[in-house]
Amino acid sequence: KIVPVILSGGSGTRLWPMSREERPKQFLALAGDETMFEQTLARVGDAGQFAEPLVVANRRHAQLIESQLGGKAATLILEPAARNTAPAIALAALHAAPDAPLLVMPSDHVIADVGAFHRAVEAALPLVRDGWLATFGISPDAPETGYGYIEMGEALGEGVAKVARFVEKPDLGTAEAMLADGRHVWNGGIFLFRADAYLDALASHAPAILEAAKRAMASAEREGATILPDAAAFSASPSDSIDYAVMEKAARVAVVPVSMGWSDLGSWDALHGLHGGGDAHHGEVIAIDTQNCLLRSDGIRIAAIGISDLIVVASGDSVLIMPKGRSQEVKTVVEALKAKS
Ligand code: GDD
Ligand code: MG
Repeated sequence: KIVPVILSGGSGTRLWPMSREERPKQFLALAGDETMFEQTLARVGDAGQFAEPLVVANRRHAQLIESQLGGKAATLILEPAARNTAPAIALAALHAAPDAPLLVMPSDHVIADVGAFHRAVEAALPLVRDGWLATFGISPDAPETGYGYIEMGEALGEGVAKVARFVEKPDLGTAEAMLADGRHVWNGGIFLFRADAYLDALASHAPAILEAAKRAMASAEREGATILPDAAAFSASPSDSIDYAVMEKAARVAVVPVSMGWSDLGSWDALHGLHGGGDAHHGEVIAIDTQNCLLRSDGIRIAAIGISDLIVVASGDSVLIMPKGRSQEVKTVVEALKAKS
């Protein structure tokens, strides 16, 4: 069976003020009634196809995760510090059986067509069993600089291509060129590989990460289904993403292009896009003669008159107001707040 590995360690700062350090975006119900973490779990809930998931997350979110698991069985690997995705996935790969296919998934994405997702995973499996690292490719519709890009090479089978090149987070000019040439897809941030194939790739391309993860797991504390990797050993790991540390460098990388209604809800503009633009309001909102606004509150009432193309988000002690199109800058606010405290 496929072992789902759910990554839940990001902080989601661009969705401030709803996403906070104590409760990052994956634990919020931003797109529907369930939280994105719950949606991710549900996507791999079929016990015929998937084994019990491994959830890799920060220690400080242990209680949130327990409550959002809602009694479902899972193994929790709780990181003492954030070292980005390459070390986090290493912990899961060291825990799993060497030949287990790991389906690594971010916990903060929306996938509208889960059937298409499952078919793409099936399409990748034969190569993955053979030692390939697989990624899933999304047709790009804008020169996004916050994603990884994959240049598709020769066909390896039905609906699977060899990755000719992997380019993580290009600059705008490079992104525009890749969008225009039609040979590139976005990296969906979802990976499928055997645990031992990933560990071998780390040994070749990021040995310091592998060593730190090994040491952290060797002296981990275990409490039931919870694993606490050794703090000093894990903290000694370099901090790097799987994309930079492994995917850009590894040789046998395959991509399955898939159209599955994928969206990385990374910003308020992205969330507005998911609603198809127009007016999108949530919570206590009175909107009179507004156009193309996202107005959202989880408490205090928002009343707006005659505004257009604005995003207003109220949560807890804070209100965010900005024109549409500038939500990537929200992280600057969070940095400023951090510097103040
Ligand atoms: N456990 C754990 N520990 N999880 C982490 C950590 C960590 O230290 N850091 C990040 N994550 C989780 C995040 O919560 C998220 O679910 C996932 O790993 C990916 O991390 P992001 O920080 O969101 O990556 P990104 O969005 O910048 O880029 C990745 O995803 C894009 C698609 O959304 C890359 O894979 C890109 O190539 C890709 O296009
Ligand atoms: Mg992301």
